[in-house]
Amino acid sequence: MSPARIGIVTVSDRASRGEYEDKGGPAIRDWLARTLATPWEAVPRVIADERALIETTLRALSDIEACCLIVTTGGTGPAPRDVTPEATEAVCGKMLPGFGELMRSVSLASVPTAILSRQTAGIRGKSLIINLPGKPAAIAECLSAVFPAVPYCIDLIGGDYLETHAKLCTAFRPGGASGGTQKKI
Ligand code: MTE
Repeated sequence: MSPARIGIVTVSDRASRGEYEDKGGPAIRDWLARTLATPWEAVPRVIADERALIETTLRALSDIEACCLIVTTGGTGPAPRDVTPEATEAVCGKMLPGFGELMRSVSLASVPTAILSRQTAGIRGKSLIINLPGKPAAIAECLSAVFPAVPYCIDLIGGDYLETHAKLCTAFRPGGASGGTQKKI
């Protein structure tokens, strides 16, 4: 079986111009490498905060690169150039607002400015797209909170079967069973 493909999109004007080292993309890759038990490969992109470019990138990662999961970092705040949630919503057929609600809620425990992030998630075809804030510290915090629901969500949309290392993240699959998967009782 071919490895699951996961898009990792850093949305940052400065990182895309090379003025700033991309720390968010590598932090997402490291977190996934520690957590996923299923073979996978990263499809990384570093792009500017341009809505049309973000939309084109998300469409390509879903429709051409066949990524079952696409994680973005950056561009979720209130500044004029922050447009990642708008681009995400524009390319998704369905939104999953619970992801943003949970990520803001866990982030609030460490930083009051968590409410400034408009991060969301949604479905395009067989891809789940999740927005994370640009701060590298937010990556593990947000992914750890929502990831237990990610493999089952990807099952439901016909994507790859993702398994996790149970010590780091227990994927919840109602009625399902396998390594790192918690059964509904
Ligand atoms: N969430 C976590 N977990 N940790 C953080 O440091 N920073 C906040 C918020 N969410 C932060 C966070 C801040 S300061 C902003 S402005 C928003 O995310 C939006 O960040 P972004 O525009 O880089 O996506």
